[in-house]
Amino acid sequence: MPVIYTKAPGKIILFGEHAVVYGQPAIAIPVNKVNATARVFPTIDAQADMVRIQAPDINFEACLADLPPDHPFAAAIRLAMQFAGVDRPPAYTLVITSTIPISAGMGSSAAIAIAIIRAITGFLGKPITADETSALAYEVEKIQHGSPSGIDNHVIAHQKPIFFSRNEPIQPLAVEQTTHWVIADTGEKTPTRVTVAEVHHRHTADPETYNQIFMQIGEITRQARQSLITGDLAALGFLMDQNQHLLDLLGVSSPSLEHLIHTAREAGAAGAKLSGGGRGGNIIALSSEEKTRQIETALLTAGATRVITTALTKGGPR
Ligand code: PMV
Repeated sequence: MPVIYTKAPGKIILFGEHAVVYGQPAIAIPVNKVNATARVFPTIDAQADMVRIQAPDINFEACLADLPPDHPFAAAIRLAMQFAGVDRPPAYTLVITSTIPISAGMGSSAAIAIAIIRAITGFLGKPITADETSALAYEVEKIQHGSPSGIDNHVIAHQKPIFFSRNEPIQPLAVEQTTHWVIADTGEKTPTRVTVAEVHHRHTADPETYNQIFMQIGEITRQARQSLITGDLAALGFLMDQNQHLLDLLGVSSPSLEHLIHTAREAGAAGAKLSGGGRGGNIIALSSEEKTRQIETALLTAGATRVITTALTKGGPR
């Protein structure tokens, strides 16, 4: 029996990816249908300090002492131990699982780090706030992704829809009306750091054009915030389509993303765009409740490898 069992949800960005790296706002929501979990099993018969890590989904098994400091599991565990002020923990086995697709813009790495941080601080008896969890997870994210904006660790640690700007306190979004979303995976994977680096190169070569695009995305995101709160489908859909056009200008769309976006719109979505780093990964489409099923079916028929539906309600994501 584990003494500790923690969970962290996936996430999806609704507006503002890439521009958020350059100081513009973005909107993200947690996705509870997928999650990362961590379980701690104390091993009474082993010597103190003996920490084993197992991730059966990826056939991973190791001792903490054998992992390099920049290994994401090891980094999360060590940061949590440091936070708890414990050098030599009682022996335990940490079992990590995740249903969040990897490299698909759904926050898999941040969710795993957060599940681990919650599990280890819990096991060591040190309470931790959502902000503190997010800050530790950001350190792990930096090891893996270079200089991420921090949106993933924030939305996942707080488990609430957020309006996020780099270096500003996060603003939770209190939605008043339910909206329905369909997330579809192209099955193609490009690591986020690759598309972020490409956008960085283009921005360096032509700052004027790219700053202009980032500013337009920022403006769309600010408008979307209000439409999301009131659940204005037509306005939100229009803003998503505009955001997608600008992401395409940034060079982060792809034929497979465009194909699924087009399919979603044809099947009745109010709007659709890529989500996350792009050049593969997921699209997100906005739907009325009645059309969700037909959009889901159309996307699967068009070749989506996985479709997840989620609703954003007054009480949070469902
Ligand atoms: O691919 P994801 O979901 O981790 O999202 C990346 C979002 C970017 O804005 C492209 C990068 C970032 O650090 O915010």
